[in-house]
Amino acid sequence: MLHLTFRQLSVFEAVARHLSYSRAAQEMHLTQPAVSMQIKQLEDNVGMPLFEQLGKKIYLTEAGRELSHYSRVIAQQLSEAESVLNDLKGLQRGRLKISVASTANYFAPQLLAVFGQRFPTVTVSLDVTNRQALLAQLANNEMDMAIMGQPPEGLDLLAESFMENPLIVIAPINHPLANEKKIPLARLQSETFLVREQGSGTRIAMERFFNQHGIQLQAGMVMSSNEAIKQAVQAGLGLGILSLHTIGLELETKRLKVLDVKGFPIMRHWYVVHRKDKRLSTVAQAFKAFLLTEAKQILGQ
Ligand code: PGA
Repeated sequence: MLHLTFRQLSVFEAVARHLSYSRAAQEMHLTQPAVSMQIKQLEDNVGMPLFEQLGKKIYLTEAGRELSHYSRVIAQQLSEAESVLNDLKGLQRGRLKISVASTANYFAPQLLAVFGQRFPTVTVSLDVTNRQALLAQLANNEMDMAIMGQPPEGLDLLAESFMENPLIVIAPINHPLANEKKIPLARLQSETFLVREQGSGTRIAMERFFNQHGIQLQAGMVMSSNEAIKQAVQAGLGLGILSLHTIGLELETKRLKVLDVKGFPIMRHWYVVHRKDKRLSTVAQAFKAFLLTEAKQILGQ
């Protein structure tokens, strides 16, 4: 049985690669006598010479050539093991900087809670803003990744969908349409709608949908948050079109009603988005994989 150490093997691998004691010594930050000594011990262990010297040059013997094949594979595997372990360290101490569309704020914390339990030493910072601001942040490389609706083409962004995002029509529970079935789209024209601000993904999707169907809505007040729209709808100021993800609590406590309008929900998707050229940290890679494989299930979709 061979008795050799990893140390001897890695010194041998370097000498065999350079065919030079001095270059191997340089690479390994050792003195040349230290390298010669390791090789000598290895040759004693193997019981055969591994190098032969002809003039000033050294060559691998047949035994040396055989061993060199294995030592290369072992050295490669060791360095792979090292980088996996380093990555794991990175994962334990890493930071994650993400930004989410204001609408995604209704489920992102729940996902971060599960991710945080799994990687308790990872520090997360979360910024909540609308779609337009998110695109600007991505352009300026201000965060690891974003959770948002589908970004426009041509921005050198990579967007992968991980969950559906249905947009629905909400009304106060005592609204005359509250209990009607299959309300025709055109019927909405006689209602006033509270709408999100310019730059909101929800607003863009809603405008596109009604344009496609040739319907002109009466826009009432503009509000820059989903929360404000929900309050305003409850107060009877009009109807609203929001992501289903924003009204979980109101449906549970029966403060809002989802209208059964033909053609609804407007089906959008949530995407995890980052720049194509972004070198994701280990933590960011882990979070992205987590979103793509587990988010839907965790949120019970
Ligand atoms: P927003 O979110 O309406 O809060 O901008 C949705 C999206 O990004 O599409």
